[in-house]
Amino acid sequence: MCGIIAGVSSTPIAPYLLEGLERLEYRGYDSVGIAVAGGSHLVMRLRSTKRVKDLGRRVRDLDVPRLGTIGIGHTRWATHGEVSTRNAHPHNDCTGRLAIVHNGVIENAAELRELLVGLGHGFGSDVDSEVVAHLVEEARAGSSLLDAVREATDALVGSWALAVFDGTTDELVVASHQSPLVVAHSVHGHFAASDIGAIAPWVEDFQVLEDGDVVEINASPRWHRREGLPPEPELRARPPMHVQPSLVVHADYMSKEIEEQPEVAARIMTELGPRVADGELWRSLGLPDFARVTFLGCGTSLNAGRALGQLLTRNSGVPHQCIVASEVATASVEDKTLVMALSQSGETADVLRALSSNLLGSAPVLAVTNVGHSALGRRADAVVECSAGPEIGVAATKTYMAQLLTGTCIILSALVARGTLDPVRAAQLVGDLQRAPDLLAQAIGASRRAVPAIAEATSEAPGFLFLGRGAGWRFAEEGALKLTELTYRWAVSYPAGELKHGPLALVERGTPVVVVDDQARRLAVDISEVAARGGRVVRIGGPGSTIPALGNREATVLGIPWCGPFESVVAMQVLARELALTLGCDVDKPRNLAKSVTVH
Ligand code: AGP
Repeated sequence: MCGIIAGVSSTPIAPYLLEGLERLEYRGYDSVGIAVAGGSHLVMRLRSTKRVKDLGRRVRDLDVPRLGTIGIGHTRWATHGEVSTRNAHPHNDCTGRLAIVHNGVIENAAELRELLVGLGHGFGSDVDSEVVAHLVEEARAGSSLLDAVREATDALVGSWALAVFDGTTDELVVASHQSPLVVAHSVHGHFAASDIGAIAPWVEDFQVLEDGDVVEINASPRWHRREGLPPEPELRARPPMHVQPSLVVHADYMSKEIEEQPEVAARIMTELGPRVADGELWRSLGLPDFARVTFLGCGTSLNAGRALGQLLTRNSGVPHQCIVASEVATASVEDKTLVMALSQSGETADVLRALSSNLLGSAPVLAVTNVGHSALGRRADAVVECSAGPEIGVAATKTYMAQLLTGTCIILSALVARGTLDPVRAAQLVGDLQRAPDLLAQAIGASRRAVPAIAEATSEAPGFLFLGRGAGWRFAEEGALKLTELTYRWAVSYPAGELKHGPLALVERGTPVVVVDDQARRLAVDISEVAARGGRVVRIGGPGSTIPALGNREATVLGIPWCGPFESVVAMQVLARELALTLGCDVDKPRNLAKSVTVH
C-alpha cells in the first residue's frame, strides 16, 4: 500500500528515491511518483501508473546530475479517486513550488477542499491528500515550512504521514499522525520513510515520529513535538536487512512460500520449542498473568487468531474473544485480559488504530508479527516474531502457518507458567508440534499431485463453499479467504453443522464444496447431504480423500492434538493458487489488494 520516502543528500536525490521506492514495492501500489528540486529551483515532478522501474527509465532520460539533491517519492494505492497519473503523488500547491506526499486518509478533505476552492485554490487531482498542499501554501506567507506544516496539520482530521518540500528554499518537512514515519541521518544524507526498510541500506539507526510530530529534515533537524514528550525520540538500531528473495525454481512467490512452510515450521520449533514446557517463553515476555485472551487482527491474521482462540479455549478452558480490528468499537474488554495482536506486516492501519483507541482499556498487548521492528512491534508491550522470513506474495501463506505455530507455543508456555498445564503434558505437545514440518511437507506433496485436476474441473464454478467442524472449520475459513482473494470467485465458509440452516440452498449440481475432513463426528452426514444434492465434494482428509493431505494417522480425528488438522490449509492454498493460474490471474499480486494495508 502507500509508501513514502524523502531525503536530502549531497548528491542527486533521485537515485535514492527510486531505490527506496523499489524497496516499498512489495507493499502493493497502483501508481508511483517523485518530486525533486530541479536545477533552476523548480519542483520537477514525475508520475506514472506503471512500475517504479518505468519511472526510473524516465528519470535516467533526464540529466540526473542536474537534478536536485532534495526530494520526495511515493507509491500510491488508490483510496480517493481512480488510478491515474493525475491522482498519483506528489501533489503540488497552486504556485508549483511546494510538493507533498501523503499516506493515510484526510477525513475532512471534502470540507477543506470547498474552503480552499472558495479562497481561490485550483485543484489538479481528485485525491484527499492534495488539500494538504494548498493548506501549507495558505500558511506559508512569512512562515518557515515547519511552521506552515504545523498550522496546516492543525486543520486536518484523520491520519497522515506527510513529506512536504519547497523547491525554492530547499526546506523539507515531515509530519505524522496515526500513520508510521521514521527519520534517519547518515553520511549518505538525511532521510524520512514510512518504513525503515526503504532507507535501511544507507542508515545505521533511526527515530520514530510520534503522533503530532513535525520535523524539519536537514543536517540540524528541528523537531516539533506535543507537550509532555521529550524533545526528540530515542535512536533505534536499524533492523537486519532482508534481501529480496529470488524465485530460483519457482514460477511465482506464492509457490515458493507455500513450499517453504516445512522449513519455517522447523525453524519456529527450533527457536521456541525448547522454551515452552518450562514456561520460559512466556516468562521472558514480562507480561502479567491473564484470565482471558482477546485475539485482534484482520484477514488471514484474524483467521490465525480465530484458530488459536479456539484451540486455547477447547483445550484449557481459558475464555477468548476475537476482534476484527476494524470493528473494535463493538468490543468490550474485561479485567485481566491479554490482547494478542496478530499481523504479518505489523503495519496494518486497522490494527494500529484499534490499539490506539481507548476501547481495549489498559490490557497488555502481545504482538505476534513477522516484522518485529514494525509499528505494531513498537506499540506492543511485548513482541514475538514469527520467523517466517520475507513474504512477497500478497496472499499470506507461510506467515499464517508461522502465526499458528508461534501462537501455539506462546499459549502452551503461558499455561505452564500460570500452572494450568502440566509441564510433562506440555513437553508431549511440543513433541507433537515437532512433527509439523513433516506433516506440512506431506500435505504439500499430496496437494500438488491432486489439486491440478480439481482446479481444472471446477474452473467454471462461480462460487465455492468451505466446510469443517471444530478446528477444521477455522482452517476452512482461511481456505475460503485464500480462494476469494486469488481467483475473484466468491467463497464462503461455514461450520458444517450450519449447512441445513441456510447455505445448503447454494448447493446444486456441480457446486464445489471443500470439506476439511478430519473425521470429526457427524461430518460424514454433512458430506452426504451435499453429495445427495449433486454438489462436488472436495474432501481434504486422509487416504482415499480427494486431497489426501492429512496423511495416515492412527488418531480417530486427523490432525495434531491441540491444533487440529492445520496442514489442511496447505491443500487450500494450493487449490487457490492452481485455480487462479487456471483462470489467468496473477497469484502474487491479486487485483485491488496490497501486502501491507496501511489505510483504514
Ligand atoms: C491475506 O492473504 C490477505 N492479504 C490479508 O487478509 C491480510 O492477512 C490482512 O490484510 C492482514 O494483514 P497483516 O497480517 O499484515 O496485518
